[in-house]
Amino acid sequence: MNENKKECYEKIVNPLLAWYCENRRFLPWREEPSPYHVWISEIMLQQTRVEAVKEYYARFMKEFPTVQDLAGAEEERLLKMWEGLGYYNRARNLQKAAAMTIEEHGGALPSTYEELLALPGIGVYTAGAIASIAFGRPVAAVDGNVLRIVARLTGDDTDISLEGFKKSVKENLEEVIPADRPGDFNQALMDLGAMVCLPNGAPRCEACPLEGICEARCLNKTGELPVKKSKKERTIEKKTVLVVRLGNKILLHKRKNSGLLAGMYEFPMMEGFQNSKNVLYYLENLGFSSVQIKKLEPSKHIFSHKEWHMKAYTVRVDEWKEEETIAARERDWCLVEPWQTKDAYPIPSAFAAYMGFLSES
Ligand code: ADE
Repeated sequence: MNENKKECYEKIVNPLLAWYCENRRFLPWREEPSPYHVWISEIMLQQTRVEAVKEYYARFMKEFPTVQDLAGAEEERLLKMWEGLGYYNRARNLQKAAAMTIEEHGGALPSTYEELLALPGIGVYTAGAIASIAFGRPVAAVDGNVLRIVARLTGDDTDISLEGFKKSVKENLEEVIPADRPGDFNQALMDLGAMVCLPNGAPRCEACPLEGICEARCLNKTGELPVKKSKKERTIEKKTVLVVRLGNKILLHKRKNSGLLAGMYEFPMMEGFQNSKNVLYYLENLGFSSVQIKKLEPSKHIFSHKEWHMKAYTVRVDEWKEEETIAARERDWCLVEPWQTKDAYPIPSAFAAYMGFLSES
């Protein structure tokens, strides 16, 4: 790092830590930052907002208070606890990593950056966060928030999505990260990014402890930085969702064990937007005789790379010839009572708009 740049990085340390002491957010996992607490919270925070994580975190800790509880959990129970957080492979990887922690590390999460990085679901950012917050190791945790702060602070117009940029920011931060407070330093940057150095050209510079040394502020370029190449557009998939009721039960289908929403339960779905005639024909082929069909409101769900645009129907059926048959079970269909979806049968939040139609109103 050249001297000017190094000086810029060095200058942030003290004001940032002082600001953190006064302004840090109260977050449940910060109050007792055991390695297990930090690990679970960091995995939840990978794709989910802090406010949304709080409730899930509390529930998860009640259900699985230790690495051993997590390793021994039933997969469906684990997915149920994760329901609504999305990106369900995070939960599966957590369980794999818990098993490895027991087998290879005697049940205690390893403390070095490299060992953490070797566990499923833990990447460069998360390994840095856990190593610094839970174990006091001087490793940076560089996510989009940190890249934005640094790009503005140094007035750098490099595309922040380039791996090279991320790598150099990590190295530069590690030259100045304070050895006695690496976790606070990283979390101060996280909080600054979340509360002050906000994205989309809307930073609150007047509240920033680094205002006086920020190049973007000085050059009036906070609206132009960071530079980030636009993401690929998501593909749109059209679906027809069926809430099928037989007596007081509803029909669910278990998705296959790989790919999007692997192993989760879903309402029966047809590809494309279908009219009621096609829906009835589809259900007839599954062995149902239908007595009533009603259209529901359409809805949308956005995943990272695709969007589901959904039309939906409720269908009342009065018989299922296949219930209890091997053919039905092999194709992973089941009829369940609505209350059973509360504790078992993880259903992804993509179907949230239709969960209110499980029982007849
Ligand atoms: N985002 C990811 N990890 C975080 C943490 N430890 N504190 C605040 N925001 C975060």
